[in-house]
Amino acid sequence: MGSSEDKEQLVNLKKRLDGKVAIVTGANSGLGKETAKFLAGEGASVILGCRSADRGLEAAADIREAVPGADVEAMLLDLRTLASIRDFATKFKEKKRPLHILVNNAGAVLSREWYTEQGVGGSAQVNFLGPYMLTRLLEDELTQGAPSKVVNVSSVMHRMASITSADKFLRDFKHGNYTNTKLANVLFTHELQRRWGGKAIESSAVDPGSVYTRVWRGSVWDRPPGSWLLKSIYGPPEDGAIAVNHAAVAPNRKVRPWKPSLGGPDAEGRFFAKGFFASKLLTAHPLSSSFPGLAPLERAVLTAPIALVLSSLDWPVRWISRGRFNGEVREVRPAPTSRDRALAKELWEEAEKIAGLAEVEPQSAQ
Ligand SMILES: NC(=O)c1ccc[n+]([C@@H]2O[C@H](COP(=O)([O-])OP(=O)(O)OC[C@H]3O[C@@H](n4cnc5c(N)ncnc54)[C@H](OP(=O)(O)O)[C@@H]3O)[C@@H](O)[C@H]2O)c1
Repeated sequence: MGSSEDKEQLVNLKKRLDGKVAIVTGANSGLGKETAKFLAGEGASVILGCRSADRGLEAAADIREAVPGADVEAMLLDLRTLASIRDFATKFKEKKRPLHILVNNAGAVLSREWYTEQGVGGSAQVNFLGPYMLTRLLEDELTQGAPSKVVNVSSVMHRMASITSADKFLRDFKHGNYTNTKLANVLFTHELQRRWGGKAIESSAVDPGSVYTRVWRGSVWDRPPGSWLLKSIYGPPEDGAIAVNHAAVAPNRKVRPWKPSLGGPDAEGRFFAKGFFASKLLTAHPLSSSFPGLAPLERAVLTAPIALVLSSLDWPVRWISRGRFNGEVREVRPAPTSRDRALAKELWEEAEKIAGLAEVEPQSAQ
């Protein structure tokens, strides 16, 4: 239900996806399934990265039913373990195919505290380290597919987050909470653009808005009255997927004579949001996001009520207006905290060590 301009852009990109290969993680439900369906509908070969074989096969069958002739395949990917991520990447490499679109969508809101064998907090592992490692392992395929795209599904929550150090974020379950993982997604997006942008691998992050999906299971929003409220004001997955789809197919930024490389130390990834989530109240309000002297907690306190009001109105306005208002996807400014280059570099390097990538695949950082 985007604006007519968005629809036109998506339709115009139809031909471009024939012959393209895409991976969507967490594609058996919610936003991931809708994005996989969209990409398959546009002619791409889509790999569904799912942690349950049954749920993956079921999703693939559903997508084939919705999109006759869809080229979809489910492959096992559990972002909780490094071995599963490596296994998924190895199996994909065996296909000897380039990769044009990688959508790091899988994510979870965890209610129970747990750590990986490497001592990484569960949320930081599933929502940040896992997608980070997967992306790094697929560097060759993304390079072959260039101009290619990496899309990281973040959230409005990143605007209320604050990471004090990479080590604490990764090792301390409380500091590596859901909110902070969504900031880590944007920090990674920028760092990836700096390091790989020069190879025409474009990196974007997305705020999908407020969507009624299974991500809320186990939380207070999963049972009445919370679930009634969420169901009535949060949009369906197909609405939430619009901004993700947009990021996945938007034409890559172009190299200009005065800016010969899209990577390098000054580069930044893109950030897409839709409707009220792209509103200046959130993206450029001096108190909520761009005022430099604001401490993270003060910023969170000021941003949270704005985000809450906008998220309760976003879908209802679109629904009542039958999509005529508030459906536009726009490229907007992410939180200033996501532009902390030192922290982004620290996160990259710390994650590299834990994922065992440093000694295996030395990267030529730009
Ligand atoms: N819903 C919202 O309002 C909202 C807002 C902002 C951002 N987001 C983000 O959107 C993304 C998609 O979430 P959703 O709302 O569509 O929720 P969802 O329906 O629960 O989808 C999440 C997907 O991630 C998968 N996943 C969870 N843990 C995994 C693991 N260890 N390994 C591999 N896959 C795993 C889930 O698989 P299983 O089915 O096997 O659990 C599921 O397919 C997430 O990154 C979330 O943070 C959502």
